[in-house]
This record gives sequence, structure tokens and C-alpha cells, in this order.
Amino acid sequence: MSKRTVFITGASGGIGRAIAKRFIVDGYKTILHYNTHKNRVKELKDEMESEGYEDMYVFGANLTNPKELDTLVKRLEKDDIVIDVLINNAGIKMDAKIDDMTDDQFKSVIETNVTGTFMLTKRFIPMMKQQNYGRIINISSGLAQHGSVGKINYGASKAAVENMTKNLAYELGPYGITVNTVAPGLIETEMTKDVTDKEKEAYIQKIPIRRLVEGKDVAQVCAFFADERSGSISNQVVGVNGGLR
Ligand SMILES: NC(=O)c1ccc[n+]([C@@H]2O[C@H](COP(=O)([O-])OP(=O)(O)OC[C@H]3O[C@@H](n4cnc5c(N)ncnc54)[C@H](OP(=O)(O)O)[C@@H]3O)[C@@H](O)[C@H]2O)c1
Repeated sequence: MSKRTVFITGASGGIGRAIAKRFIVDGYKTILHYNTHKNRVKELKDEMESEGYEDMYVFGANLTNPKELDTLVKRLEKDDIVIDVLINNAGIKMDAKIDDMTDDQFKSVIETNVTGTFMLTKRFIPMMKQQNYGRIINISSGLAQHGSVGKINYGASKAAVENMTKNLAYELGPYGITVNTVAPGLIETEMTKDVTDKEKEAYIQKIPIRRLVEGKDVAQVCAFFADERSGSISNQVVGVNGGLR
């Protein structure tokens, strides 16, 4: 049986990189997606190749640009690449309390995290339907379910991602496609570099395991959802948060 192929959005970011490493090591043909940081995915590819791994491909596209997504799909078709597993990991945050949050800050986060996820997923579904097989894994956040301060745009976007999972699981189940969500807690990446040590410490004290989780912990759940043997598991949300609820 040939290798399964995984497409990881935002493999140039902290969590995406950890997910990508896991799937490369697990033997998947891996598409490393980036938006602005091509150098980061190229470095990852070089690093993994130096360790003897192969079958990695680098694809760039801005998820908010439908033309770039159309071009990406054409390039996949031209290269005879069929996606079995899509991990919608790319995302942004632009925090501000409501008095200070601009309309553009609100719209940008929704456009990237929700509309971008929709536009890419929609373009990959025909490939999955045609082979009657697919695994879609959406990365939301604990903030999809919990309130916070300064995150109305981000929280709303992640709640929308979780709801998209629910609807898509029903729509796509008959085609052998599962759709699941992984909801991480705070993980140290570029996205969270503004979180102070004091805030981190306070957060850790609330977590049952008393430590932050890492990208590789998110990758662990993604690997489980992506597995061929996980075909009965759809429409689930798994928190990767050290037990914080
Ligand atoms: N870190 C956390 O504590 C945490 C917690 C819960 C959930 N999450 C979620 O986990 C995911 C990954 O977060 P992270 O912490 O790894 O963040 P990160 O290091 O900032 O990475 C974000 C990734 O998203 C990509 N991206 C941003 N805008 C894009 C666009 N318009 N089109 C295509 N790609 C775009 C970036 O690509 P370029 O760098 O190439 O531009 C980058 O690869 C996000 O969905 C985030 O909301 C993170």
C-alpha cells in the first residue's frame, strides 16, 4: 500500500512544525505549507532529510486569497498529489478589548481562521470524495469554549471552527471522510510570545498536570485522528491542555 499524504497548513509555525515532524517520522508523504515564512519549512525539510527522511514538499499560499488556493490545487493536480489527511492548523490572533478592537482586527481573524479554513477545505474535499477516504483535522483552541479578555475575535473564530467540524462530519461521513478537532491549551510559540512569565505561571497553577503542553502533544492526537484505523471516530473535540476544563 502506498504512503498516505498529509497537508499541514502553517507548518512554518510552532505547532505546525511539531505536527509535521511527527507525520514525517510516521512515514507520511508530507506537504509543508507556509504563508510568509518559506525559509522555516525549507529548514525543516532540510533538517529531516539530513536525518534520512524523504517525501516532503513545500507549498505556499495565503489562505485568505482564493486565487492562490486555486493555484495550489492545480499544482497538486499537476504533481499527481492526492491529499488523504488535511490538518487545518494555520491561524492568527489579534488581541484587543472590545473598545480598542478595530473592525479590521475582528474581520482579519475571522477571515484567516474561519473563511481561510473553509476555502482550503472546500477545495480539497473533491479529492477525498473521489477516493472515498479522508481525514480532516481542525485545530481550534480551549478558548473556543472558555471566555477570556481581549479575544472576542479569536474565541469566536475557534468556536466557528469547532462548529464547522460538527457540520462537516455529518456532510462528509458518507464519503469515508472523518472530521475532528484538536483544541490545544497555551503552547509556547510565536503566537503566544506576548504572554508574560507571570501569566504563564498563573496558568500552570490551574492545569492539573502543572506544566504547559507542547506542539508534540497536539501532534499525538492528530496522528491518532489521521490513522486509517480511526475511521469510526468523527465529530470529536479532544482538548490537549493537561486536563484543564
Ligand atoms: N500557541 C498556542 O497557545 C495555541 C493554543 C491553541 C490553539 N492554537 C492554534 O494552533 C494553530 C497554530 O498556532 P501556533 O501557536 O503554531 O502559531 P504560529 O507559530 O504563529 O504559526 C501560525 C501559522 O499560521 C500561518 N498563517 C497565518 N496566517 C496565514 C494565512 N493568511 N494564510 C496561510 N497561513 C497563515 C503562519 O504562516 P507563516 O508564518 O508562513 O506566515 C504560521 O505557519 C493556530 O490555529 C492557533 O490558533 C495555538
